Amino acid sequence: MKLIAVSDEEELSRMAAEILFAKVKASDRLVLGLATGKTPLGMYRFLTKYSKECKQSFKHIHTVNLDEYVGSVTYHTYMEQYLFQHVDIPSDQTHLPDGLAASLEDECKKYEQLIKKLGGIDLQVLGIGENGHIGFNEPGTKFDSRTHVVQLTDSTLQANAKYFAGIEQPKEAITMGIGTILESKEILLLAIGERKANAVKELFNGSLNKDIPATALNQHLNVTVLADKGARKLLDKES
Ligand code: GLP
Repeated sequence: MKLIAVSDEEELSRMAAEILFAKVKASDRLVLGLATGKTPLGMYRFLTKYSKECKQSFKHIHTVNLDEYVGSVTYHTYMEQYLFQHVDIPSDQTHLPDGLAASLEDECKKYEQLIKKLGGIDLQVLGIGENGHIGFNEPGTKFDSRTHVVQLTDSTLQANAKYFAGIEQPKEAITMGIGTILESKEILLLAIGERKANAVKELFNGSLNKDIPATALNQHLNVTVLADKGARKLLDKES
């Protein structure tokens, strides 16, 4: 696992966007796995900026997002607002799990088939939860899990409660499984702030621990972690 140490959120966002943008420019066709949450917001901002400045088309990009809340379009709305409406990516090439699907079980199977049909994910962007979750794969999730419905833990509900002020917060979500994520050809994990420091420390101790889902990434051969000073606070090798 490669660590890129950056000073703060701004630098992390710029570097993450540069990594994605270089791939967008260099490829004829690219399947990007995307994440939501506060962490990648700056990355989307820079990506939008670069695409406008360089007049770079996104018509050859396909996207699959990690997750969506059940009974909600929260992450669909997020992606529209922060990326899709700013670039010329065709809407039928952007995909998120459908949290409103009549059969959630069928939706999970369909999502797996979709990823397969697209030829797999070239680069998957990940944030990390305070408890080490990736996507919405909570502690205890099997490392070979596929797209599935999850009951969110109290820790995750609390961490994300701020996004649901005044409206009922969904308690379930559909998420790509850890096995699904691990099949991505390349993974870029972003971690900002001291609240993520413990999860980042566990990630870099090299073990595979089901209680810290992100440690599954130690099985993958092409993972880059971009972490700011706060998120690196508990890493021994860091000053
Ligand atoms: C949510 C998302 C994850 C994200 C995590 C961290 O639970 N499902 O994909 O990585 O939160 O969020 P934030 O970036 O807001 O800290």
